[in-house]
Amino acid sequence: FNPEHIRNFSIIAHVDHGKSTLADRLIEIGGVKSSLPQQLDNLQVERERGITVKAQCASLRYTYMGQEYLLNLIDTPGHADFTHEVGRSLFLSDGAILLVDATQGVQAQTVSNFYTAFENDLFVLGALNKIDMPNAKVGSCKMEMSKMFDLFDSQITEISAKTGENVEKLLPQVIELVPPPRGNPSADLVAILHDCQYLSSSGNVLLTVLIKEGTLNSRDSVCLLSSGKTFPVREIGVFQPEPLPTSNLSAGQLGYLILKVKDVEDVIIGDTICMPGSIVEPLKTIPKPKPSIFSGVFPDENTDFRSMKESLEKLVRSDTSVSIEADSNQTLGQGWNLGFLGTLHREVFAQRLAQEFGTSIIMTKPSITYRAVLDNNNEIVEFNCAKNMPKCYHVMKWEEPVVETTIIVPGDHLASVISHCMSCRGVQKENSTLGEGRFLLKFNIPLIETVDDFYSTIKKLSSGFATCDFEEAGYWETDLTQVDVLVNGDRVDGLSMIVRSDEIREVSMKTVKNIAKLLPREQYKIIIQCVIGVKVQARAEVKPYRKDVTKDLYGGDKTRAMKLLARQREGKKKLRERATVKIPRAVFRTL
Ligand code: GTP
Repeated sequence: FNPEHIRNFSIIAHVDHGKSTLADRLIEIGGVKSSLPQQLDNLQVERERGITVKAQCASLRYTYMGQEYLLNLIDTPGHADFTHEVGRSLFLSDGAILLVDATQGVQAQTVSNFYTAFENDLFVLGALNKIDMPNAKVGSCKMEMSKMFDLFDSQITEISAKTGENVEKLLPQVIELVPPPRGNPSADLVAILHDCQYLSSSGNVLLTVLIKEGTLNSRDSVCLLSSGKTFPVREIGVFQPEPLPTSNLSAGQLGYLILKVKDVEDVIIGDTICMPGSIVEPLKTIPKPKPSIFSGVFPDENTDFRSMKESLEKLVRSDTSVSIEADSNQTLGQGWNLGFLGTLHREVFAQRLAQEFGTSIIMTKPSITYRAVLDNNNEIVEFNCAKNMPKCYHVMKWEEPVVETTIIVPGDHLASVISHCMSCRGVQKENSTLGEGRFLLKFNIPLIETVDDFYSTIKKLSSGFATCDFEEAGYWETDLTQVDVLVNGDRVDGLSMIVRSDEIREVSMKTVKNIAKLLPREQYKIIIQCVIGVKVQARAEVKPYRKDVTKDLYGGDKTRAMKLLARQREGKKKLRERATVKIPRAVFRTL
């Protein structure tokens, strides 16, 4: 294909506004029929949760004004935790279809995705979806879109991705308005490695690539620039959306190549691919995002450490937004500390590890990155677990991360949503009307308040109508303390917590009670304490088994009974002193 006849574009939208359904319709127009309900959500986790997690590509051929075009579309995720994936897709695209559900109007991720496209200098086409629904508000939604995104009425197509109405109008617009990719098919090969997938059946790796310059043939060998290693190509092809082998891929094309790569470290997302021996500059890539949520990850009872290491490394390679560091813990042994972009991202990662690699894990409670400003030269130390917390006598002040939360909410639910944000220590920054009785709120909220159920509470309070988006917004001063957990006097490695000073009592009480529920009873009493230094903040007990040592005694021999009971007490005390309580792994597991 001549690059003039190629278009690379993404479909972007808020969660559930119909991106994958539209992508399926467009693929059908391109002539590919599939029996799968949703062709592009092909991970098990995506089908089970009904969300897109990984951007997926599909190539379709479309004839317009007598000319055949190759259209490469990328279906992107909608949830805020996966915005990095949207950014990566837009980086490969020259245009985007911004989809809005006509029953809901512009929502929080519509706004953030539009700005990502705008910052990437992409041509944005508007599409108003779900016009088949009786409650679609076509006129007002169109007005909202043109006002917020500077689109003319004629640039917004009214469609139903479900029934297919008007969907065929989009492709001619893509061809006319989205610029073709630049690149010369006769130049030396330069391609960007966009994604990777390990093919467990063959042990090969399937790399999604965009050819920037040159042509790649199926019999070539390629060099992965970062490692400098050369690999013979096993297969190349395009996504339809299933991989379809072709004999070559040329400048402007989005496709795949299969290589046999033994060391997972050789595959680096964003790497430049070229011909062996050619001298090329590495291509620009988008920077790795900074993770905000951290969890310790350890093999569970049935998982072998080595095989878990291999699976984990493979999955981390294909999801560049996850950070990984070695970690260890007395009870759980060797493991890793992983960083994620949000709680959904964290849950999806664990689910993918189990489903795609058959690896079951123990994931510890999520934590975030705090900062300590030290008294020597205002040095700033970042930490996300209690064991790395600096000693308080060196600390001038503690700081916690804050996120700017954008919420779009109907007027009926405005008051309850505002009061929930306030109760989460939020500070209101903006409250503006969007028309149709809807409001756009901006709050700065400490990140930790949003980690558990902030989003689901906002949904509940607004009967499902409010939507949220988060963005980093710096740090606030706070007051933090390290709280340790003792079980029969022994500190349990891995259970120490970073706690805000005004929450110490509440958190300590909850923690000791929860642990007490999970510890099995022993012959002796088990005492669980939360402590700061040596000062006990909360205490709970697990009662011992009781054996009636006096049951064989005759009638009223009181002194003998007393002696037996005293001996039993003494024995249990000795046992308690000598025995170390085995902490069940479940205590650490929160998923
Ligand atoms: P995420 O990837 O999770 O962000 O979702 P998405 O934007 O890809 O949405 P998806 O295509 O999964 O559609 C969400 C729901 O809306 C599904 O139940 C679709 O059947 C439904 N849907 C999509 N388009 C239309 C439409 O035009 N009309 C109607 N009535 N329903 C639609």
